[in-house]
Order: sequence, then structure tokens, then C-alpha cells
Amino acid sequence: MDLGTSPLARELMEQLVDRNRYGRLPPGPLLPPAVQLARFVVTPRQFFSACQARYGSPFTVRLTGTPPLVVYSEPDAIRDLVTGDPDVFRAGEANAVLEPFLGKYSVILLDGERHRSQRRLLTPPFRGDALLHYGETMQAITQKAVAEVPRDRPFAFHELSQRIALEVILRTVFGAEGAQLDRLRDSLTRTLDAATKPGMVIGFLQRDLGPWYPWSQYVRARAEVDAELRLLIDRARREGDRRHDVLSKLAHAKHEDGTPMSDEEIRDEIITLVVAGHETTATALAWAIHELTADPALQERAYREIRDARSGGVLPANAELPFVDAIGREALRLHPVVPGIGRALAAPARIGGVDLPAGVLAIASIVLAHMNPRLYPEPERFAPERFLERRYSPYEYLPFGGGGRRCLGMYFALYEMRIILANLLDALELRAASRRIRTVRRNITLAPSGGMPVVASPRR
Ligand code: HEM
Repeated sequence: MDLGTSPLARELMEQLVDRNRYGRLPPGPLLPPAVQLARFVVTPRQFFSACQARYGSPFTVRLTGTPPLVVYSEPDAIRDLVTGDPDVFRAGEANAVLEPFLGKYSVILLDGERHRSQRRLLTPPFRGDALLHYGETMQAITQKAVAEVPRDRPFAFHELSQRIALEVILRTVFGAEGAQLDRLRDSLTRTLDAATKPGMVIGFLQRDLGPWYPWSQYVRARAEVDAELRLLIDRARREGDRRHDVLSKLAHAKHEDGTPMSDEEIRDEIITLVVAGHETTATALAWAIHELTADPALQERAYREIRDARSGGVLPANAELPFVDAIGREALRLHPVVPGIGRALAAPARIGGVDLPAGVLAIASIVLAHMNPRLYPEPERFAPERFLERRYSPYEYLPFGGGGRRCLGMYFALYEMRIILANLLDALELRAASRRIRTVRRNITLAPSGGMPVVASPRR
């Protein structure tokens, strides 16, 4: 065997170079990076749990094509990681692979001053009163979808929650209506389908090789979405500041120097909101339904709360539903759809008492943090009451990440989950159609396998 060119020799060489470049890092598996990458992609939860059990916290994993990942799960270390100087702890750089999908102005990809300034413009449409406007729309969309749910035969719940979450984004974020709503739904669905095909984030596969090639399909569908977005931005600029959708708010937002956002900035942020906000919320709902179908008593308790919140026979969109909220929060604890958050270190930093060199990726593993038995007794058990009995610090419970990069859509997503769960459970009783649900990776999210099949019957 020619040791100079064999894959094993190359892996060993890479590891040696890596060790010289980064010095001594916390312990971790010595498996070749390609094997670690395969385990990270195929069985992410098991891989990190096994590393933590063997090496403690933090541990280091080495994946082909990225700097070493130093993985933390303890609250003190997570505090250091999310509250560190944003010029040193760079989240945008850690997300760089997403640029071909989101565009160079995407808030997710920016760091430092440019990130702060873009985030300031994006925050108001996701706060307070603005959210209340979206509640009625979320409710109307859910009620229409629930009326169309097949009765007494299995269907994929994840597809239903994806349809609802996409419609919510199209109406509240894009402000699309009528024929344009139909065109956008079609082109955006094709864009998202193509973008989530395996291998799409790999740079050298991103080339136009004809109509059947996923990247080419992505580029074509994306061009149609961009054309519709241009029309919506023109309309928003013409119609003034009276519409409530996020796109219209951005069309009238001003940078600190008084200049408006450019069309390209608005386009990249709107696409970012679809990508960040659609699959995540749909998947979180699928996990909540997975747990509710496993325990009819929980479903019944949630239903009683919903029934008691009706006023004059109608459930208000802004009804307070603490137990339903706790179900959503516990689903995001036990099954965080985003398994971890990363910060690329631009300079040496001390995290959780460990000194790390510049260049490594510091990771807060949300999955591991949420399985800490000191904070969550019987961590494998789905127990929404936890969230009624105590409050968790943002470093103990972090399904939406943390610090200055915490999810911009957190309140939007929690509100949407409440409304969708409440309207579903108000109308339907749901049963599991499969006992064998596994966690599968869908690009950056962790989802239930098989589309989460369930059977619905009208509530008696
Ligand atoms: C259950 C649903 C959701 C989950 C679990 C989730 C989770 C996350 C996580 C973990 C991050 C990274 C935070 C960090 O690095 O510290 C993030 C960022 C982000 N999310 Fe969400 N998200 C959800 C829904 C949404 C929705 C509905 C929207 C908007 C419509 C949204 C928009 C964003 C944006 C714009 C960022 C980037 C923030 C920044 O870099 O400053 N997300 N989300």
C-alpha cells in the first residue's frame, strides 16, 4: 500500500497538522475525521452522548472539512460562549456554508458591527404588538388546514405542520396574497425541496449541470422566488408604511445613518426568515405531537385547558394557555430541532475554564445541555410540568441559542406553536400510527423519522 496517498495516511497527516496548528485541545475520539463526520451526520445524538460519557465536558471532535469542534454542555461554559465578545466569538463565520442559500446580507452570516446593525432593523417586526397582528392569521391558516385533515386514516403530520408553517411565513413575512401567494407557494416549495437535497452545502457540487440536477433546480426555482420578491418590495415601497407584514416593515426601515435597506438586503433577510423559521417550527410541532400521541392523558389535559379558554364558544388567538406552552417548551427540550450552536474563535478565549486557541469552533450542544439530570430529573421523560414548576436560566435551556445571536423569531415561533397546537387539539384527537420513531437529520435540523405518521379523529 502506498502510505503517501492512502486515505488512512492522509487522515493521520491531517490530524498531526491539526495538532501542531491548534496545540492541545480537550480530549475526544481518535477516529478518522471522515468516520466522525459520518457519525455526526447519521446518529448525531448518540455520537455526542457517547463522546460526553467517555471524555466528559468539554470534548473535541474532528470532522472532515472543518476546524476542530470543542463541544460544551455545562451552563457556566455556555454562558461564556454566548456572552463572549462578538468580535471574538463569531457566529456568522461559523454559518458561512449557508451563504449560497441565504445571500451575503443575511443576518445569520454577518458578524460584528454589520450584524448588530442588521439585527436592529429585523427585531421590531418580531416583538410585542407586531406579533399580535400575526396571531389571527396563524389561527385562520391552522383552522383551514385542520378542516382538511384526513379522518381515521394515517397521514404524515410533519407534512401538515410544514404546510401550515410555510403558509404562515408567506402571509405574515412576505405579505403575499391571491395569485401571487399561489405562485410564491409553488416556487418556494420547489426551492426548499431542492435546497434540502443531500450534499447541497458541498461547494464543488454547486454547479449547473442541467434540469435534473438538484443544484440547477434550486437555481431556477430560486430565480422565480427572487422575481416575486422584487414585485413585493416595489409594492411595499409604493404603498407606504401601513401594511403589517415583515417585508413591508423592512421596506421602510432605516439604518442608523438614515439610509433605507437596499432591495438585496431585504431579499436576503426575507429568505433567511423562511429558511430559519419554516422547517424549525414545523419540526418542533412534529415532536410535540409525537409526545402527545404517546400519552393520551397529556392530550386530554391540554384539551381541557383549551376548552376552558374559549370565550363565547370561540378560542381567541391570544388566549393564555400555560400547559400548551409547556408542551411546546418540553418538546424543544427533549428534541431540540437545532442540536447545537457554534462560534468560530477569532482570537484565543477561555470558555468554561479551558483555554482555546483562535480558529477552533466552540459549540454549545443544546442536545446535551437539555439532558443534564441535575437540571432535568429523568431527562428522557417527557414532562411538561417542569416548565410550570421552575424557570430555567438561558444557559440551562437554550433551544433558540443565546446571547446577542439568540433566535430572532423565538417569540414568533412559540406563539405560532401555541396557536397551532391549540387549534389542532381543540378539533381533533390524535393517535400514533407508528411506534418506531427515530431521530433523523434533515440538513441542520433533527426531525422525527417517517414524516411522523398519525391518525386523527374528530374530538368527541
Ligand atoms: C421552533 C422554532 C425555532 C427554533 C428551534 C429556532 C432556533 C434557532 C437557533 C438555535 C438559532 C441560532 C442562535 C444562536 O446562534 O445563538 C436561531 C437563529 C435565528 N432564527 Fe430561529 N428558530 C426557530 C424559529 C424561527 C423563526 C420562526 C424565525 C423567523 C421567522 C427565526 C429566525 C431566526 C434568525 C433570523 C436567526 C439568526 C439570528 C442572528 O444571527 O442574530 N427562527 N434560531
